[in-house]
Parts: sequence; C-alpha cells; structure tokens
Amino acid sequence: MKTKITELFGIKYPIVEGGMAWCSGWRLAAAISKKGCLGIIGAGSMTADVLQENIQKCKDELKDIPFGVNIPLFNPIAKDLIDITVESGVKIVVTSGGNPSLFTSYLKEKGCIVAHVVASLKFALKAEAAGVDAVIAEGFEAGGHNGKDELTTMVLIPELVSRLTVPVVAAGGISSGAAWLSAMSLGAEGVQIGTLFALSEESSAHENYKNYCIGLDDTSTMLALKKVSPTRLVKNDFFKEVISMEDNGATKEQLLEFLGKGRNRKGTFEGDISNEVSIGQCVCMIDSIKSISEIIDNLVSQYESAYRNLSNFALD
Ligand SMILES: Cc1cc2nc3c(=O)[nH]c(=O)nc-3n(C[C@H](O)[C@H](O)[C@H](O)COP(=O)(O)O)c2cc1C
Repeated sequence: MKTKITELFGIKYPIVEGGMAWCSGWRLAAAISKKGCLGIIGAGSMTADVLQENIQKCKDELKDIPFGVNIPLFNPIAKDLIDITVESGVKIVVTSGGNPSLFTSYLKEKGCIVAHVVASLKFALKAEAAGVDAVIAEGFEAGGHNGKDELTTMVLIPELVSRLTVPVVAAGGISSGAAWLSAMSLGAEGVQIGTLFALSEESSAHENYKNYCIGLDDTSTMLALKKVSPTRLVKNDFFKEVISMEDNGATKEQLLEFLGKGRNRKGTFEGDISNEVSIGQCVCMIDSIKSISEIIDNLVSQYESAYRNLSNFALD
C-alpha cells in the first residue's frame, strides 16, 4: 500500500504507534517498526537519560529501519527531550499536548519530519501553519490525554481532510483492520494506534494493568479532568474520587494537588490499578494480550477482508 504517510515515513503499512507514557518503550517501538509500521518511543514518561537509552536500543535493534519519538509539549522537560532526540539523530518526531509553533521550525531546521497531534480544526490549522509534515487527528475515543471538546474520530477526520493540505493520520478508536479501512475511507492517509498496542506483550505497562484492561467493556472509561488536562480514565477508585471532587466544584489547583505526582506511573507501570489508569474506548474489542507480530498480522488480514466485503455495498 502506498499513501502519503507510507511515503513520508518510509514504511510499508500506514500505521503509526501512538506514543504512550509508561507503555511505549524501545521494545514496543522496535517490534512495531520491524513489522513495517512506524514505532514511536513515548518520551512523556522518561527523563532525558532514559530517553537516550531507549533511542540507542531502538537504533541497535533496527539499524536503518525508521522509528520516531513522541514528545508531549506540556512536559516541563520537553526542551531537554527534544535536544536528546535531535542529538541522537532521530529523524521523526511526533509532538503533542501543546503549542506546535514552539518547536516545529527548530525540528525542521534539524532535518526532522514533524507530525503534531490535534483534537480540533483550530489546532490542526495552527499545526499546519507552524510547518508540520502531517497532522495526527485524535478523536475523543482515544486513551490518554485528549481534547476537551469531545470531537469523535468520525467527525474530525473528514473535517480536517477537507480543510488541510498536509496529510491527516486518524487516531482514536482504531483496533481492527475494518476500523483502519474506515479511517482511510474518510480520507486519512494513515492511522495512529494506542490502546491495542498498549495491551501487547511488548508494551512496557505492568501485567496487572494489561490484565485489568482486557477485562473492561465499552462503558468502563470516561473523559475527566477537563479543568486540568482532559484524560480518558478507567472508572476505578481513583476516577470516583476525581469525579466526586469535580461534582463538588473543586478548582484546578485542588485537582492538581490531589493528582500530585506519579499517579499514572503507579497505575500503568507499577500495576496499582486502583490508581490513575487510562485506556481508550476500543478496549472493549480486545480480549487477550498478543505479540505485536500477531496483532499487526491480524490488522492486515482484517483490513484485506473488510476491503473485499465492501464490494457487497456497491450502489449498482
Ligand atoms: C495509556 C496511554 C498513554 C498515552 N500517552 C500518550 C503520550 O504520552 N503522548 C501522546 O501524545 N499520546 C498519548 N496517548 C495517546 C496515543 O498516542 C494515541 O493517540 C491514542 O491512544 C489513539 O487512540 P486509541 O487509544 O483509541 O488507539 C496515550 C494513550 C494511552 C492509551
């Protein structure tokens, strides 16, 4: 398959790994890149040293096969993470969660391909004006942090495709080949996948987190923390406390104090699933933890059969 995204990143399938704090270490990124997709190291949960180590391991493992790094721009050490990424010679950077005009020109000057994650047209236009090579449009089905306006992938993709000139990658709710094909039919040039890869064997998330998540259903998550940073949370004890605070009119400062530090690490990486746990709505489609090789083979065969089945819907 040849799309603007396969051409831009030099990959076989137009599938990008969503950078995911505490899940997307070098093992997951390397496994995904080896299957012809774009593996992304999620730097959001890393110190600069840990990122450097992860980049080196990916390079050793992948040689010339492309991979990238995701840097959430709200991270207080975003500049350090960008410096390490550039100094290490990484050529693909996905920025998210912040103003795209902050680092895009700098990264472009350094010879990087830059994509930025957005959740609305307004930020997509800002990203395009900042000079990104592609926009990753994330619907509110997605796991992790999200836009507060709750735009779905189904609405966001055709809207952005009709308004932008840069290629659009669809993210949010894609866990099957049929969903991948539907995003392409809306005009996306590729897809970004998080939840499905977070629950793979190679994900660095804790086994408790993975086992807990595969038992969840379609009503197990909700977008919360809009005053701080909208996040799709699993409805566990932590979520209940957040909602109770929000219902009682807690201020941003009070919520920030409650969140403190390390809640996400505890929930995702240390396996204390009563703490902060985030995953996408499409978790309801995942019933076992598989290897990346099996997951991507399944995506490809599901895509092919969904494509064939579409002929049943011809208008004659
Ligand atoms: C556990 C988890 C952590 C995430 N962390 C980040 C992150 O650090 N940076 C980022 O840009 N996106 C993050 N995301 C969003 C993903 O990169 C991706 O866009 C999203 O998961 C796609 O939607 P899906 O979960 O429905 O596949 C995270 C998602 C999950 C599930």
